[in-house]
Parts: sequence; C-alpha cells; structure tokens
Amino acid sequence: SGMITIDPGFKNTGSCESAITFLDGEKGILRYRGYSIEELAEKAEFLEVAYLLIFGELPNQEQLANFHKDIKAESHVDEEMKKILDGFPKSAHPMGVLSSLTSALIAFNPASVNVSSEKEMYGAIVRILAKFPVLVAWTLRKKKGLPLDYGDDNLGYVENIHKMMFKKPNQEYKSNKLVIEALDKLLILHADHEQNCSTSTVRIVGSSHAGLFASLSAGISALWGPLHGGANQAVLEMLEAIEKDGGDTKKYMAKAKDKNDPFRLMGFGHRVYKNFDPRAKIIKKAADDVLGDMGIDDPILEIAKGLEKEALEDQYFVDRKLYPNVDFYSGIIYRALGIPTEMFTVMFALGRLPGWIAQWREMRLKNEPIGRPRQVYIGENARAFVAVEKRK
Ligand code: CMC
Repeated sequence: SGMITIDPGFKNTGSCESAITFLDGEKGILRYRGYSIEELAEKAEFLEVAYLLIFGELPNQEQLANFHKDIKAESHVDEEMKKILDGFPKSAHPMGVLSSLTSALIAFNPASVNVSSEKEMYGAIVRILAKFPVLVAWTLRKKKGLPLDYGDDNLGYVENIHKMMFKKPNQEYKSNKLVIEALDKLLILHADHEQNCSTSTVRIVGSSHAGLFASLSAGISALWGPLHGGANQAVLEMLEAIEKDGGDTKKYMAKAKDKNDPFRLMGFGHRVYKNFDPRAKIIKKAADDVLGDMGIDDPILEIAKGLEKEALEDQYFVDRKLYPNVDFYSGIIYRALGIPTEMFTVMFALGRLPGWIAQWREMRLKNEPIGRPRQVYIGENARAFVAVEKRK
C-alpha cells in the first residue's frame, strides 16, 4: 500500500487516453474532435455534433441524412413504458424519473451489445439517440399532465424534441426558428466535456461490461448532483431567492465567502477552467440575444449580470480563480423557452447524451480494463469477534 498515491476527487489523476474532447483550462479552450466549441455552436447542428463526437468526423450530407433516418426508424418507445412512468407521482424529480426510464428501456430492447460488431454497436447508439428524447418529453409532459405523444418524422432532430415536449392537445404545433436555434446551441455546448463526474461514471460502469443503457442511467444520476449538472437548477433557484430578497446580491456574496456557511455561489467555479469557461461566454451572449429577440425583459438576467460583475471583482473569487461556468446563464435561456426549472438538468442530460455515448464507445473499442481504484486502509487492526450477548 506504500505504492498507492491517494488523490481525492482525482484532481491530478488521468483515467484514460481519449481522442474526443480537448480542454485547456488555463487558456479556456474547448474543442470537440479538434473543432472549436465557438465555431460548432455558431455553424453546426446538434445532430452533426453528435455524429462528430461519436464517430470522429463531421458527417457529409448523405451520412447525416442516413443517420437521421436510422434514428427516426427507432423513435418508438414500448407502450409498456408508459405504465412505469405512470407509477411516479407528479412531484417526482425529472432526473430521477429519467434515470429510471433509461434503465427500464433495457427490458424492452436488446439487453447486451456485442461491441466487436460495428452493426450492433451502431444499432444501440441509434436506438438510444432516438428513444431518449421521447423519455425526456414524456418526463416533462407527465409533470404538466399532458398526454404522452411520439415524434414527428418530418422535423429536424431538435425541432422534433421541442414539439414532443410542448405540443398541446387539439392545438397545432407552431415552430419558432429562434427557439429551435437557441435550443440547438445549448445542446451543442453541453455535448461533451471530457472526464467529468457523469462521463467518468458512464465509463466506469461500462468498464464492467454493463450495457450502454445501464451505463447511461448511472451517468444521469451522477449529473443530477448540484455540484455537477444540477447546478443549473440551483443557479436559477438562487437567482430567484435573491430577487425575492430585494436583489441583495451582496448578502449572497458574503454567504458564499463565509467558510462557516455551506452556501456556494452556484454556477461559479470549475475543476478545470481557471481563467474562464468558454461555454459560459457563448451562453451569456446567447441569453442576451434570445431574450432580446423574444422581447423578454427578465429581472433575473440583470441580477445574474450584477452578481457576476461583483464576483469577478472580489478578491475571494479572484484568488481562487472562480469564474462563471456553463450553468450560470443556461437556466435563464431555458426559462425564456418555457422549460420548468426542475427540467433544466434533464436538458443538460439531453445535450450530454452524445458525449456519454462517444466516451463509452471509445472505452469499449479500446477494450479498457475494468475501472477499479485502490485505497489506503485506515481502519481498525485485526480484532477478535465478541458474541452479541457479551458485548458491552
Ligand atoms: N462559491 C464559493 N466558493 C467556492 C465556489 C463557489 N461556487 N467554488 C469553489 N469555491 C472555493 C472553495 O470553497 C475552495 O475554497 P478554499 O480553498 O478556501 O477551501 C476553493 O474555491 C476551491 O474549491 P474546490 O471545491 O476545492 O474546487 P473543486 O474543483 O473541488 O470544485 C466545483 C469545483 C465546480 C464543484 C465548485 O467550484 C463548485 O461547487 N461550484 C458550484 C457548483 C457549480 O456551479 N457546479 C457546476 C460545475 S460546471 C458544469 C457541470 O459540471 O455541471
């Protein structure tokens, strides 16, 4: 055991070699397969980015069309799944529901994938990219008491997701270009982020050769926590609390700095970014654009900007290199798009799905060994057993 180095939170431990995402935390650079996040967010569509992350290259028109066609062909979810959803109370948190439904999918689909067959691998990938949005939409519709619907094959991938989420019964669905573009951009920005908590979870679960859906379900649970994807919900709740408190940002700054108070400024700080989070920059601008274009004047956006400014000038935050992260402004856009706060982390999961799939695929194709960290034991030495009646 003298040989084992302990690294809590794996702050300095690499778990794998990966060719998917490049991240330079000092310079604030993020690239998927060599393409800058700024350029992808501006010019690409989410489905192209999904293909890029998973298969390594941007698809040409024919490849993209075939990919989309294959996804559409798998977009049904077994009707029995509705009974499982039915068993949840309306108050259930959408992330718990989504993780459970993803796990339940295993019962209705091929249970295992032979990863040495490209065809089987492709089949599993296409199936989850097709069915996951249905589960996301159903999770929201259940919350809202709306009937459970399926998708529309005539629409683009993201537009279809939007329709599945928001289509009202007996009312024609009206698409809105601005909304779809904003959603597309947000999903791209969330699509991968190398070996974060949920991705590492997906890889470690998959390393035992548990199936793709089981690994993803575990990843969703990891993402749920407020230090990770759950931060986007926590940010909005924090901003709302500040608003109710008369916009007293100073009070919350003081709380965040107080070491006797567990409160943290949600949406601030990052394990790897120590200069700025490039995603946050893009999202801040998108929040301005989307709210401007939609003619929404949200006081919460002003509070967020004020809070950001104060934190960036504050010695505590400067010393610790704490900057706004991807979750700081995303919720403000989701809110403008009419997505309930409790669904924010579900939207993150929807965006991260291609990244999780890509990382799982890479790990399995490289035939990586089972993930099994070591420890240093610090408990009792050998002790003699005492029968229960003789214990004091
Ligand atoms: N507010 C106040 N203090 C903070 C914050 C914050 N948001 N983040 C870090 N610190 C302090 C922390 O108390 C510590 O101070 P000290 O050195 O005096 O003990 C120092 O900064 C370093 O923090 P750490 O917890 O050791 O850093 P970490 O790399 O373990 O944690 C983090 C990274 C993202 C979990 C953390 O910054 C945090 O909790 N942020 C708030 C939650 C959040 O926004 N999470 C979203 C992350 S980005 C996307 C995603 O994964 O979803």
